[in-house]
Formats: sequence, structure tokens, C-alpha cells
Amino acid sequence: MTDTSLTSPGTLYGLGIGPGDPELLTLKALRYLQSAPVVAFPAGQANQIGVAQRAIAQWLSPQQVQLPLQFPYVQDQAALQSAWQQAANQVWQYLKQGQDVVFASEGDISFYSTFTYLAQTLHQRHPQSQIRAVPGVCSPLAAAAVLSIPLTIGSQRLAVLPALYSTDQIEEVLAWADVVVLMKVSSVYAEVWPILQRHQLLERSFIVENATRSDQVIYAGLSQHQNLKLPYFSLLIVQVDQAKTL
Ligand SMILES: C[S@@+](CC[C@H](N)C(=O)[O-])C[C@H]1O[C@@H](n2cnc3c(N)ncnc32)[C@H](O)[C@@H]1O
Repeated sequence: MTDTSLTSPGTLYGLGIGPGDPELLTLKALRYLQSAPVVAFPAGQANQIGVAQRAIAQWLSPQQVQLPLQFPYVQDQAALQSAWQQAANQVWQYLKQGQDVVFASEGDISFYSTFTYLAQTLHQRHPQSQIRAVPGVCSPLAAAAVLSIPLTIGSQRLAVLPALYSTDQIEEVLAWADVVVLMKVSSVYAEVWPILQRHQLLERSFIVENATRSDQVIYAGLSQHQNLKLPYFSLLIVQVDQAKTL
């Protein structure tokens, strides 16, 4: 039996593994991924393999422990807290034995990532934990690249809105931003489309589903696409001020 009270805890590394194309994994993330004894990632939903898990599978060896962590897609704070605590406990079981754990998360690790909740919970419960982050390519940058557009240029002001925005918030942002990115657009697209129509922005709007993955889909101009059923991994870019992008 190991006396864990004498062992320095291992480090939790959050790895941003990019938007899906395995070649968009950074060399640094790859090095950590391949050298960690324990590799954690968000478990897939509904018995599907998770996006991060799929993207890293080819880089892992059978000797590495794979640790899927459950993060439910719900708004209920109590359920979320409980999931984060359970995930932090699972990670701590390895850290306390001096083993490093990497947590692979799609996109960038500090950009609307589950890793932040895991790291915060771990730090609260075990303040002696060492936590580090390795950045990755985030989805708006990947989407701009596959659309062959600059995300921003010159003095353009960029607004990024997460899922839980009200229609008022979108109106407000359209009034000042030159480029708007709507994350998690799948749940609000039906409400967003008429707003873009009212502002005559449909032809300056782009949607990218599953950017950089084999199932990527692009809609450049949305006038003909009022009723899209978008997957969770979709985002919308609006070039509000086209003059500045030309
Ligand atoms: C919880 S956020 C995670 C963001 C991620 N950490 C990043 O750096 O892009 C999930 C949202 O990111 C966007 N997203 C992430 N990856 C994407 C991809 N490959 N293609 C399109 N949208 C993506 C979608 O809007 C999705 O609903």
C-alpha cells in the first residue's frame, strides 16, 4: 500500500485539443497527451464516443489509463455541481498518488470549456492541487479559416455571445459590434434568423457545423436557410460591418 500523505500530488493539465481536425492539435498538447499516465476527457453523450475522445484516440497507448468524466448537458446547478465534484474526485484519486492527469477538451481550454469547472472544483476541494493549461485552436478561429474569411481586421470590434443570450442582447450587440460570433447557436437559431432578417444581415452571416471535421457543413448566406436543424457543434458568424471587411 502507498502512503499517499508523503507523495507530492501530480498535476492536472487542461489540454485544448483544437476543433476536431487531428492536425490542429498543438505539438505541446500532443507531448503532454502522450506522456501522461492518465488521460481524462468528457464522456460522450447517449453511448456515443465524445468529440475529444475521438480526436485523441490515435495518440494514446494501451498503457495509459483512460478516464471518461460525466458532464451532463443540463442547466440545473445542483446536477452540474454534483457532476463537477464527482469528476474532481475521480481525478484526485490519481493526483494524490503523484500521477499527472491530462484533461483533453475540444477547442481551447479557457474558452467556454468544462475544464474551468473541473479545475475550480478541484482547487476548492484540494487547494494543494497543481493545475496548468495548454491552449488550443478555438472554434471561431477554425470556422473563419474554413470559411476563408478573416474573423476580424483593422479596428473591428468582435463580440462573442454564448448560448444563453436573450434576443435583446443580440440586438444590443448588433448595434455596436462589427463582427458577432454566436456560440451554441443550434438552440436559438429559430429566434436569431428573424433578427438577422430584420437587420438585413442574412447575406452577411455564415454558419459552420463541425468545423474542420469530416462532417463539416458550411452555410454562407442564410436567406435560403430559415429552418435549419443544426448540430450542437455549430456556430454563426455575422459580419455586421461589411465595409470594414472588404
Ligand atoms: C462549450 S462550447 C466549447 C467551445 C470550445 N472550447 C472552443 O474553444 O471552441 C461549445 C460550442 O462551441 C462551438 N464549437 C465548438 N467546436 C466547434 C466546431 N468544431 N465547429 C463549430 N462549432 C464548434 C459550438 O457553438 C458549440 O456549441
